Amino acid sequence: MGQTLTEKILSEHLVEGELETGEEIGIEIDQVLTQDTTGTFVWLQFEALGLDEVQTEVAAQYCDHQTYQFDFKNTDDHRFLRSAAGTFGAHFSRPGNGICHNVHKENFAAPGKTMLGSDSHTPTPGGLGELAIGSGGLDVAVAMGGGPYYIEMPEVVNVRLEGELPEWSSAKDVILEMLRRLSVKGGVGKIFEYTGPGVETLNVPERTTITNMGTELGATSSIFPTDEETREYLSRQGREDVFEQIGPDEDAEYDDEIVVDLSDIEPLVAKPSMPDNVVPVREVAGQDVEQVIVGSCTNGGYEDILPAAKMLKGQEIDMKTEMIVAPGSKQASEILAREGWTAEMMAAGVNFSEATCGACIGIGHVPASDSVSVRTFNRNFEGRSGIEDDSVFLSSPEVAAAAAIKGELTDPRDLADELGLDAPGVQMPDKYNGSKTDLIAPDEAVDDELVKGPNIGDVPLKDPLDSKLEGEALLKMDDNITTDHIIPATQDILMYRSNIPKLSEFTLSRVDDTFAQRALDSDGGFLVAGENYGQGSSREHAALCPMYLGIEGVLAQSFARIHKANLFNFGLVPLTIDEADYANIEQGDDIEIVDDVAEAVDSGQEEFTVRVNDDWELTAHLDASAREREILSAGGKLSLTRSQYDAE
Ligand code: F3S
Repeated sequence: MGQTLTEKILSEHLVEGELETGEEIGIEIDQVLTQDTTGTFVWLQFEALGLDEVQTEVAAQYCDHQTYQFDFKNTDDHRFLRSAAGTFGAHFSRPGNGICHNVHKENFAAPGKTMLGSDSHTPTPGGLGELAIGSGGLDVAVAMGGGPYYIEMPEVVNVRLEGELPEWSSAKDVILEMLRRLSVKGGVGKIFEYTGPGVETLNVPERTTITNMGTELGATSSIFPTDEETREYLSRQGREDVFEQIGPDEDAEYDDEIVVDLSDIEPLVAKPSMPDNVVPVREVAGQDVEQVIVGSCTNGGYEDILPAAKMLKGQEIDMKTEMIVAPGSKQASEILAREGWTAEMMAAGVNFSEATCGACIGIGHVPASDSVSVRTFNRNFEGRSGIEDDSVFLSSPEVAAAAAIKGELTDPRDLADELGLDAPGVQMPDKYNGSKTDLIAPDEAVDDELVKGPNIGDVPLKDPLDSKLEGEALLKMDDNITTDHIIPATQDILMYRSNIPKLSEFTLSRVDDTFAQRALDSDGGFLVAGENYGQGSSREHAALCPMYLGIEGVLAQSFARIHKANLFNFGLVPLTIDEADYANIEQGDDIEIVDDVAEAVDSGQEEFTVRVNDDWELTAHLDASAREREILSAGGKLSLTRSQYDAE
């Protein structure tokens, strides 16, 4: 039987297990990526594991989320990250050089390789045939030390693309259409493999927009085969030598198939405040727009900004609307400037940001209260823009530019008719000739020892799992709680990312601002949640901080993949419960796991009896591999890995 592209790459990297859906496999990792908000803990954990040299082919440390140096804390972190990259042998991308996924795509992404990254949009280089997976930072630290990465073999879904995109529709609309059909949970436990005749009609930047935002489907990864478009992109980046033609066998069998006819795709938007709240832009046309931002790791490339620039040339943005362009990389900024597009956009009224995540996580360019912001980003979770009950629409650059010109949500086709605009089309530069001075290779490192300022703390460790777990249901939450709810990524909070005692004070503060203190005051306790708990980012602080506050476990109807792995990694027990039991538990109830938990976890027990208020009982399930059970028993992956290294 033929293999899918995913199976081919995985079998070449397999070190443990078999490629059977749902079975745990261990794979060798070729490349790792980390960014500034997750990176400090990646390196602190790398150090705590006693490791001294990066073992992967490529390791890259980017500074993109918190590039503004408001006070010494971010700068301390950046200096520490530079020193860690230099000391241990990673590339270091300086603050302002761009967003990790964009810069990685430009410099390192390569067909057939595996990559692990401590950022949820790590799958972006799938557009070049790299199998890239997001994970917690501890998994990245272990992989960087040469250890395998363990994952349940996902289902592989064939997304067959047919036809060709019409004018004014874009790759962003393709992934919004996928979200409209499948929802933010539709990709959980799946890898989307794009095939079919429509693939060759999309260039690499368009493909990476789709693979980037596959994360919003909850997918483990997304991947395209490679072809002449891939060779062309790599050649323009001066990296044709890494090109390899790869794809599925003709008789490959998939777990499922979805057909998307590109010629049916029209300009779409995701309405507030979920990326799957998708409708044709014509359905919401006419709403006033006060802010437009083009950028982010989804649509921050030269090829994304150029269509907006072409539409804006000779136009003026509406007087009540502010438009910001935040390129995804300095390479994109530099080429746009060299070609004169920056000046054209400025003449139309655009303001420019440095290449940073920034506004995507509420750092800068926070919208005015009670106003609509249209962004080419991948997420519009409530409050993520930096203001509670915000109203953020996600769109393509074409829809965003149309909104800026018109001052209201509008279908770009209608605006084109009104103003006589030509469709901008998609175009790559002849050569990606941005400078590389902001990317420091390991052999150019400026530091050879770690530099830790006062904002760099220690890694907290947890004791081995107790036999008895009991405590209060300290917080009951709804469905789709995101890692942004658990630890908000705003500047005032995330600047403490390397200082866990301080950061923990903000845990779940967006749900209940008394939670952190109540958790500290109780001796243990549980979180209760509905479906898809922990969706969003790979932020391991969302498990680390509850662990620091003494939380023992989470009872939820279901968990998002990366967050569940992070709960195991930090020794918190993730138990699933059914809908009726979820409905019956109240915040403040006394929860007691009747079984001897340590023994039950060791012995592979899957069902646990939970007594509530000494009054009624429910059955909770632990879905964990033998390796995850070993991690839980040890009190987390760091404790386990350290003890394993000590034993060697
Ligand atoms: Fe940055 Fe937002 Fe992407 S935070 S990595 S631009 S999802």
